[in-house]
This record gives sequence, structure tokens and C-alpha cells, in this order.
Amino acid sequence: MRDELEVLLYGHPTLRRECDPVEQFDDGLRQLVAGMGEAMRREQGIGLAAPQVGDTRRVLIAEDRRGGGRDILPLVNPEITFHGEGRDRFTEGCLSLPEIFADVERPVRIRVRYQDLHGDEQELEDDGLLARIVQHEADHLDGVLFVDHLSMVRRRLIAKKLKALGKQAQLQVQAGL
Ligand code: CO
Repeated sequence: MRDELEVLLYGHPTLRRECDPVEQFDDGLRQLVAGMGEAMRREQGIGLAAPQVGDTRRVLIAEDRRGGGRDILPLVNPEITFHGEGRDRFTEGCLSLPEIFADVERPVRIRVRYQDLHGDEQELEDDGLLARIVQHEADHLDGVLFVDHLSMVRRRLIAKKLKALGKQAQLQVQAGL
């Protein structure tokens, strides 16, 4: 097993997969989360979803600054059960789309139900950065990327960058990633 997980790039087919619910809360799951945490720190991200490292389990991690630090919070089988009415725009990026940033409108407040690494049910509610990260990463588990939320006009502005990423993603596929 490789000790470092590589982040898959836009155009890689795994990023478009609908991910599968986690049923085994075992060492394999903990290894996945540890590897994702390492990859997220290495790439200086604040969130990461399992399909971005080639694993199609419904797992995401998010940087959690609510305690004043930079904890890594794993959410297994996350389900957003409530959206507040207020929405705002925020500039998002994605480790699978390096050097592309765009404003995305999303609900401000969410409640999310998920399982921790022991399989215990948890729930969190947030209206800050964590809520934004969780929505972005939960999209990944359904094969949705932040650029999918952009208007046709805005997508056209980044079309060249997307095409270039697609070529790099093909190289990842050829390398067996
Ligand atoms: Co992303």
C-alpha cells in the first residue's frame, strides 16, 4: 500500500461516482481517514472527501476551528438534514481543481447527521466555515464539484483551465490511480 494518497484531479472518473455508505467501522476506515488527513495537510486544504483520494466510501474530513485550533473532524455517512433559509456567497477552491477559485452561493446554516469513526450517530449544526466545508465535501460524495454550481458564463471563463486539468487526470488514470 502506498503511504501517501494522491489527490485526483478534475476529469478523473472517480470524482463523478456516487459513493457508497460505510458499513465497516474498522481499521481500514481509520487508515483511510488518517491518509486523507495527511493528504489534506500536505496540500494545505481545509476539507477533503474520500473520492478525491480514489476511495468511494461516504467519508469526508473537515478542518474544525470551533475549538480555537485546527482539528480534523471526520464525518462518515454524512446527511444534511436541515438548511437555513439564509444564503451567502463565498469563494471556494478544491484540491481536485488547483488554482481555480469561484464564488458559490449556498445556505449559511446547516444541520448534519453523521457517524463518527466508531459508528456512533452524531449531529452538528453550524453557520460558519465548517458549514461551508461540509456542504462542499458532501457534494463530492454524490459526484458533484463546486464548479457545477457556477453559471454557464462563469464556467466558460475557466473552461481552458478545466480542459488542462482533464489532461492531467487522464495521466492519473493511465498511471492506475
Ligand atoms: Co473539493
